[in-house]
Amino acid sequence: ARPASVRIVEVGPRDGLQNEPGIVPLDAKVALIDALADAGLKMIEAGSFVSPKWVPQMADTAEVLGAINRRAGVRYTVLAPNLKGLELALACGIEEVAVFTAASEAFTSKNINCTIAESLERFTPLIDLARARGVAVRGYVSCALGCPYQGEVPVAKVVEVSEALTAMGCYEVSVSDTIGVGTPDKAQAVTSAVAERIGLERTAIHFHDTYGQALANVLACLDIGVASVDSAVAGLGGCPYAKGASGNLATEDLVYMLNGLGIETGVDLDRLAAAGRAITAALGRTPASKVAQALAAK
Ligand code: HMG
Ligand code: MG
Repeated sequence: ARPASVRIVEVGPRDGLQNEPGIVPLDAKVALIDALADAGLKMIEAGSFVSPKWVPQMADTAEVLGAINRRAGVRYTVLAPNLKGLELALACGIEEVAVFTAASEAFTSKNINCTIAESLERFTPLIDLARARGVAVRGYVSCALGCPYQGEVPVAKVVEVSEALTAMGCYEVSVSDTIGVGTPDKAQAVTSAVAERIGLERTAIHFHDTYGQALANVLACLDIGVASVDSAVAGLGGCPYAKGASGNLATEDLVYMLNGLGIETGVDLDRLAAAGRAITAALGRTPASKVAQALAAK
């Protein structure tokens, strides 16, 4: 059955901006994060502590975290690929981090320069330290519905990596369609296989909208009770190590659909759309979200 409410994990400031070719000004990043909090988002992925050589756009994450107006009741999270990333996050007083690996060896190698097994080994001390400091850890499994390098990805591998992350202490695993190739039955089947092993309450979804399937895929997963969904305002996004990976599911589209289904999110759609217009204006574009376009035309 569908959930009564959905927790939206807003990844726009991180997944949305990490692939922007020009460095986005600090002020625009800070304004975006504060506007998202004002719109009612309770979980905002604000940046990442990865190598600045690999992802230059995220090099100012510490400055961003120092400049935002941290709202009570809002959780700000960042990506941390290794212990160094966690240490940088801890120094910023962050309450949650996310580790990321994949169900595809080829992608893991291109994205974090190691094997899947090595990535999990790196996460062990990271998660132990995070938990000792009271910092929650979320996990991502990329290429859950397909890989830009190897194509098909076995469901068993997605399940195996998700279980490993959970066993290590991740409170939630986000089943990620990095390149947006999934379609609803497959999205539901893979997510359901993961949920069966790690628990529905630990299962989140993260769908890119490359082929326009993200919203349909989310609906298929709501039908099995998934209640934690990642999205990016204005449909920003893409992964620098997944060619052709366009934006994430737009948060405006997600909220509009959930409103229509009577599923609670706590997000104010008009304020959210305004946040999307402001950041895309700063980037010299308009929002990719259909809902945002429709609201702007009203
Ligand atoms: P490496 O080169 O193998 O690692 O990179 P290294 O340990 O040899 O470090 C190389 C340099 O990076 C060193 O500096 C380190 O100090 C530095 P140097 O000595 O050369 O001056 N370094 C760091 N600096 C800052 N913060 C750190 C850090 N770690 C090392 N945490 C590494 C390995 C994992 C670091 C690198 O591959 C990396 O940063 N990868 C990140 C790639 C990335 O951010 N991808 C996008 C996010 S994932 C995604 O978008 C998918 C997701 O949205 C879900 C989905 O859609 O599928 C989550
Ligand atoms: Mg992503």
